[in-house]
Amino acid sequence: MAALKRPSVVRVPGDKSISHRALMLSALAEGTSRVRGILESADVQSTATVLRRLGVDVPALGPEITIVGRGLRALRPPTGMLDCGNSGTTARLMAGIAAAFPFESRFEGDASLSRRPMGRVAAPLRAMGATVDLAAGDRLPMRVHGGPLHPTRWESDRASAQVKSAVLLAGLVAGVEVSVAEPERSRDHTERMLASQGAGVVIDDLTVSLIPPSALRPLYLHVPADPSSAAFFAALAALRPGARITLPDVCLNPTRSGFFETLSAMGADVSVEGPREEGGEIVGEYVVGGAPLRGIPVGGGAVPAMIDELPLLACVATRAEGETRITGAGELRVKESDRIAAVVANLRALGADAEELPDGMTVRGSERPLKGRVVTHGDHRLAMAFGVLGAVPGNSIEVDDPHCTIVSFPGFWERLDDAVQAVGG
Ligand code: S3P
Repeated sequence: MAALKRPSVVRVPGDKSISHRALMLSALAEGTSRVRGILESADVQSTATVLRRLGVDVPALGPEITIVGRGLRALRPPTGMLDCGNSGTTARLMAGIAAAFPFESRFEGDASLSRRPMGRVAAPLRAMGATVDLAAGDRLPMRVHGGPLHPTRWESDRASAQVKSAVLLAGLVAGVEVSVAEPERSRDHTERMLASQGAGVVIDDLTVSLIPPSALRPLYLHVPADPSSAAFFAALAALRPGARITLPDVCLNPTRSGFFETLSAMGADVSVEGPREEGGEIVGEYVVGGAPLRGIPVGGGAVPAMIDELPLLACVATRAEGETRITGAGELRVKESDRIAAVVANLRALGADAEELPDGMTVRGSERPLKGRVVTHGDHRLAMAFGVLGAVPGNSIEVDDPHCTIVSFPGFWERLDDAVQAVGG
């Protein structure tokens, strides 16, 4: 009897951005929150650890957790350093929360996080009245001494959900009105979650304003699957004409869907099934089918909606006809690694045609087999993007540090092996 072919359905873990926020906003709520499907990855563990140090009783992460909120004003002075590990979201969003408390919080992180700029959150928090001290070059370790804050209207010079969220959270805890204007729209999970908990949130084009509530309602949330993790399997399918992969229960939030839209514009067959609203987010199924791909320009407002997927897009572009030119993505240089330099250096070492731009890169596709070893610099998204490229028939790619995927996607390699089998080995 012929072996049954496994269905090409890939379930990916919960969204990382929503998981961080679910922990923080449950901790600040009044009453008991229940969160299902939280991402159990190293980055989210960092947020849990930091909250515990501030007096919140966060249970071990699991499929369903309950968190008894401490309310908006009752975090306790931390017992030691707040170790954010590899997680920029933990450091920047928690700095916003800490800025409203009249005690000192000291943040540190791993080598990668310690190279990333923190001045972008220090500046608005100082403008609100907090004391924020940084090491040379505006880096970690960071000392935040908060207290009563002033209402603020912050003009952010970049589309950054972490900066926007730090200001909104500082305003929330300090009980002062804040607004943040951005040049392009960044992911909006903080404002959606806050609105679902009863906060006044006003969106006016690219400006979001928060009218702080006297208390936050608890969360009852099922964390949707992470579109940034689903993207790897969408790419796997897109790179094989005839393959088809279904990705259930993914967050379809338009501030996150840029990669799927771009894959479709490159010629892949991308459809959305059964969109529905759940806990303030839109959730549904992506179905992605492979087809011959063509390179396209990517830039402007599309970039923030796929910022974490750009290394993967560059890998996909090695198999798309013509040139893919990514611009307006200078932020890639200050992610977990310099993702412009690292992606281009790796692509070239494998034999692909790629060049750096100051704010992006160009990649020209071909049928040439790509072979060699990839240096990830401990960057989870690089490991997974090149893992997918290595699964393209004809390519042979070794990733130097496969373990670093635990930052956002524990179990990635097993899931990739299964998906490769399902689409035909
Ligand atoms: C995140 C925002 C993004 C993204 C990061 C997670 C968040 O960074 O790259 O992985 O959860 O707010 P920006 O601050 O540049 O938007």
